[in-house]
Amino acid sequence: MQIHQNISLKPYNTFGIDVKAKHFVSASSVNDLKDILNLKEYPNKLILGGGSNLLLTKDQDALIIHINLKGIKTISEGDNHVLVCANAGENWHDFVLWCLERGFGGVENLSLIPGKVGAAPIQNIGAYGVELKDVFVSCDALSIETNTLKSFDRDDCNFGYRSSIFKTHAKGKYIITSVTFRLSKKHHELHTDYGAIASRLDKMDIKEPSISAVSNAVIAIRKSKLPDPRDIGNSGSFFKNPVITKTHCERLLRAFKDMPHYPLSDDQVKIPAGWLIEQAGFKGKHFGSYGVHKNQALVLVNYGGAKGEDLFRLSKLIQKTIKRLYGISLEAEVNIL
Ligand code: EPU
Repeated sequence: MQIHQNISLKPYNTFGIDVKAKHFVSASSVNDLKDILNLKEYPNKLILGGGSNLLLTKDQDALIIHINLKGIKTISEGDNHVLVCANAGENWHDFVLWCLERGFGGVENLSLIPGKVGAAPIQNIGAYGVELKDVFVSCDALSIETNTLKSFDRDDCNFGYRSSIFKTHAKGKYIITSVTFRLSKKHHELHTDYGAIASRLDKMDIKEPSISAVSNAVIAIRKSKLPDPRDIGNSGSFFKNPVITKTHCERLLRAFKDMPHYPLSDDQVKIPAGWLIEQAGFKGKHFGSYGVHKNQALVLVNYGGAKGEDLFRLSKLIQKTIKRLYGISLEAEVNIL
């Protein structure tokens, strides 16, 4: 375990923002993490997972702890289900592939989501009708305050839309070290009702899809809409889809007849932020080295050399415009540091 000084964080965030970490250390085991937490000379510590849900706007003075805990194993197996434990530093999509190779179902709709396993519960990652909470059993997390491991089951995590206890009450208090999933071995419960998946499977002429076929459909959809961070820096959806009241929605529909809207309850309606941002004219806009992606307006992009402050300013402009046009407050989904 070696502490590096003044290193660039560019390789460690999918936006590809070039800011410096004053101090940086990579942890490969729970014991490494415990030793790092004991380092009294660095009172400020910051956890970095895959850096895929993060906008860095300035150089960081804290000790940056890079989570590099590797390993995936089956911990128990029945006729129909299997429990799999993955360490926090595993790449999420590699974990999905590991499951598919063994015929384990449940995470295929979550294919190609950038980031690491340990970050997945924090924002309850989700895509195409499935959320992490649907396959989640528990996670182990190290308390930063007491330096001891604690296990959180699904109820403890208090999962919501792109949210969990690790984003609310317990924010900044724990480091997730491993996650345990319950996956199916047979009679897989496929989620293919999400519009784009059904039509993609149709296009592929697949009538009875396997979990791999669903994964391939998801990969194809994501590739056609979302930029690959290896080509164009980005952090996926920059904002959450806002939830507004039914009255508010009805008022907006009088002016914007085509506005997509998804009722959540009797009084709550979810509106796709991508639609609002597109209607406001931002989709595909270039502002020099940064802008809004041409295929998905919810994704802000760094074409190369953008500064975090630039992207932050753009996000503020978008928020102000959407508030003015629709009276809707957009909330950032990414963490801004
Ligand atoms: N839309 C537009 N213009 C756009 C983008 C979207 O009009 O530029 C409209 C679409 O036509 C559609 C609706 O918005 O009617 C929904 O679009 P889409 O299916 O692409 O999904 P989304 O709501 O924009 C969410 C997640 C994505 C996830 C997809 C698929 C959030 C914040 N984002 O996006 O997650 O991949 O659904 O399930 O919930 C992420 O979190 O980083 C992410 C990429």
